[in-house]
Amino acid sequence: MSSKVKITIDGQQYQVPAGEKLLWAALDCGIYIPHLCGNREEERPEASCRLCFVEIEGIPDPVTACTQEVIEGMVVQTRTPRVDRLVGTAFELLLSNHKMRCGKCPQNRRCELQKIARERKLKLRLTRLRPLLTEEQYQPIDDSPDSFIYDSNRCVLCGRCIWVDHKVVKVGAIGFIRRGIDRKMSTFGDRPLSESPCTQCGECVKVCPVGALGF
Ligand code: FES
Repeated sequence: MSSKVKITIDGQQYQVPAGEKLLWAALDCGIYIPHLCGNREEERPEASCRLCFVEIEGIPDPVTACTQEVIEGMVVQTRTPRVDRLVGTAFELLLSNHKMRCGKCPQNRRCELQKIARERKLKLRLTRLRPLLTEEQYQPIDDSPDSFIYDSNRCVLCGRCIWVDHKVVKVGAIGFIRRGIDRKMSTFGDRPLSESPCTQCGECVKVCPVGALGF
């Protein structure tokens, strides 16, 4: 049996498995912390979405819950003015590079961006930033596979599809290409999926938190 540690989240005490990352421990306790790139299996998460910030007593600045291991006596706040500000900014940055046409999105009402907006009372539109992506700059949708489509304009670069492709189905058809704001998930040589080793098993579609990969 795995050992447990006592931690306090938002004033409530919980017993959670020792060595667990705080994000998953909190979610298992029913406490929602926004997250897109976090992966429970990943030993060293990239922490790229910057949505899972929390404050921990004794640590001067907010930290990402997906990288923080729980320890006995840890005292955590999931909502403070600093956390809310950081999460709000990270969320708006994601929206600034995201095709915002929810009504036409295959993931409408199941999208994790919509869930984060609901839970944290954030607007699903830009209030401070300008869009990085205009309609004229939208990349063409890859509908070359028989069974699903890939719309890179909706991708939030969480890497879940790449994880499944590499570690679960072990095909290795997709990965991240380019850097900075040009970074995207694609195939080797940025070829259509039907021209890659993709077997069209659809497992990547199931883990996409937004409507980038859809049936
Ligand atoms: Fe922690 Fe993305 S889930 S930074």
